[in-house]
Amino acid sequence: MKQNDQIAQSLAETRRRTFELFNLVDEEVLQRSPGGGFRPIIWHLAHIGVFESFWILQKVKGDKPPNERYQRIFDPISTPREESKNLPSRREMEGFLNDVQAHTLDYLDGLSFETNDPLLRNAYVFDLVLEHELQHQETLAYLLHMLDPKLKRRPAKEKNNSVSVPSLPSATMTMIPAGEARMGAVWNEFAYDNELPAHTIHVPAFKIDRRLTTNEEYADFIKEGGYERREWWSDEGWNYKEQENWTAPFYWKQVGDGWQEQRMFDEGEIRPQHPVSGISWFEAEAYAKFRGKRLPTEAEWERAATCDVEPDRKRRFAWGDAEPSPARCNFDLQFWDTTPVGNFPDGASFHGCLDISGNLWEWTNDPFAPYPNFKSFPYPEYSQEWFDGDHRVLKGGSWATSSSVLRTSFRNFFRRHSRIAFAGVRCAANL
Ligand code: AVJ
Ligand code: FE
Repeated sequence: MKQNDQIAQSLAETRRRTFELFNLVDEEVLQRSPGGGFRPIIWHLAHIGVFESFWILQKVKGDKPPNERYQRIFDPISTPREESKNLPSRREMEGFLNDVQAHTLDYLDGLSFETNDPLLRNAYVFDLVLEHELQHQETLAYLLHMLDPKLKRRPAKEKNNSVSVPSLPSATMTMIPAGEARMGAVWNEFAYDNELPAHTIHVPAFKIDRRLTTNEEYADFIKEGGYERREWWSDEGWNYKEQENWTAPFYWKQVGDGWQEQRMFDEGEIRPQHPVSGISWFEAEAYAKFRGKRLPTEAEWERAATCDVEPDRKRRFAWGDAEPSPARCNFDLQFWDTTPVGNFPDGASFHGCLDISGNLWEWTNDPFAPYPNFKSFPYPEYSQEWFDGDHRVLKGGSWATSSSVLRTSFRNFFRRHSRIAFAGVRCAANL
């Protein structure tokens, strides 16, 4: 039962990393909201266990809920954000998670995936639970990033913390000829409902930046009156900006006539060659307009990131199908930070786009919407609920994204005014 053993190992290893993230700060801090109306950070811990228990032990195995109260307070719909307070202790939550995992591993032992049950077939439900936990790890990184660096301990070993600053290529845009974009998950591996069904879209020729927008470039936008001049903003974007008093990216603070930024474990001057992050979709859109450019469509992004020498192949990652590694991109908390743009020439896409897998999520112009013939599975609250016209698709993964979520078909989605994701902007333009 090689596959079962591998799943068991992934479950244990993923859980170890979840606990590690919670070790960065004291429990007293975990029990508070990090600000911005978000739930206390510790809510995510029990939520991860409730999700695992619900899908594996209750829905598939047929057990009763192990804890009715947990099921209620750690469900994002039945207990909305504002009502998540006075949560159980970390110790109690970890006890719950350990019990659930012990039952999961017990059930998994010797389990056959040769069945017609779509939840069990190909071990779907185990991948679902794993990916769910990995995505909450990234959310945890966003929430921890919001905290004052003084509250955080650096993890014991940082895997990789030195990067050289590359000399930037002078040709900043690349032309992508008209052709077919292969949308969605074309591989025989786990995918969410929103990545399916795979299909093809014809995309006219366009240009796209080879690099993510840097802090230095974004600082020019601010200097030129980016947050004061009406002409680059949409009506709704302008209203949000006014209401929420945006004058710079989320983590920036003006000190004298320069900019300081808050990072995961320290703060300091903005680094000109790092990509700008902490910007909403509205800001990304305004910035692109300022440059006389625009945001890429989702299909354009797929062309830029996934084309191959063989026109019918879709690359699972920008560079091909090899698993992500620190030589190709910035992912999986390898650096706990962004890296200078264009730092991974071995991770370039066929069309020469750098950092298109990893470093930062990239806002696209498209609303998060179902692909033609979409079928909700296994529950509408994962995707369907958010096909609401406000969410926009983000692609490519960030420095906190794990390898499986880094696949090019993965569609992330946040509201247009959201600024906490590790997201930046790569501009496109018509020819
Ligand atoms: C796809 C990252 C937007 O965090 O709301 C977690 C992922 N869905 N639990 C989110 C998710 C259910 C989702 N994002
Ligand atoms: Fe969740």
